[in-house]
Amino acid sequence: MAGWTLGVIGGSGLYDIDGLEDRAVMRPHSSFGEPSGDLITGRIGATRLVFLPRHDVGHRLPPSDIDSRANIDALKRAGCTDILSLSAVGSLRENLPPGTFVAVDQYIDRTFAREKSFFGPGLAAHVSMADPVCPRLAGLAAQAAREAGAPVVEGGTYLAMEGPQFSTRAESELYRSWGCAVIGMTNMPEAKLAREAELPYASICMVTDYDCWRADEAAVEVTHVLEVMHANTVKAKALVRALALALPPERPTSPIDRCLDGAIITGPLHRD
Ligand code: ADE
Repeated sequence: MAGWTLGVIGGSGLYDIDGLEDRAVMRPHSSFGEPSGDLITGRIGATRLVFLPRHDVGHRLPPSDIDSRANIDALKRAGCTDILSLSAVGSLRENLPPGTFVAVDQYIDRTFAREKSFFGPGLAAHVSMADPVCPRLAGLAAQAAREAGAPVVEGGTYLAMEGPQFSTRAESELYRSWGCAVIGMTNMPEAKLAREAELPYASICMVTDYDCWRADEAAVEVTHVLEVMHANTVKAKALVRALALALPPERPTSPIDRCLDGAIITGPLHRD
């Protein structure tokens, strides 16, 4: 059995991780496009880590300009076995106040201006997205978030919107009526692409605001998101460390490691 190489995709406010041994910077390569930025590699305990700032250092990339195919491909080529996503989100529920960390387990994808598959003309594949999150990694990440001192909720649906504008009140109410827990602009198609790359994916969503559905509260603004995100970032870095130290030296296989078996529908060419 081989060890874990944990890919960590850092969202708004998270552009680096602390405490890496053997720290190195890699220029990532992908045939699919331009990854968000340099990969930072290193070790914490027995776990190898590969960190990628989703918006690049300086927050150069708005959500629709993030090339998630290039990012996932670069992380796969860098040897990642699993991917932990860390993201700022808005809350769609009263009981998820800013500062809460939510280990989401479902998605509704409302993005529409992004490349969503590694497959395409000439090769058709349909992976299952019924359970988009790896329960093993999500459970370990939730426990690590608790150790980092964050209030943690396990389970909840993430509404992925295109942005870059925040939602209207009517949209926010619609997503609440659908039972969504949080809203963000980045986890899709990232989660779909991780599955196509046979990489178990989990996402810890850090609540920064109540979006705009609350009658007695000001609607979300970016300055407020950043303020709360700074406080969340310290805990997010502690979470990564706690998770890396909690992972056992050997990584048991996951069914997601082989999820393409049976998912490719294009047959071999037959010529007479
Ligand atoms: N990221 C942080 N807060 C958000 C919100 N309210 N809507 C979409 N993305 C967000």
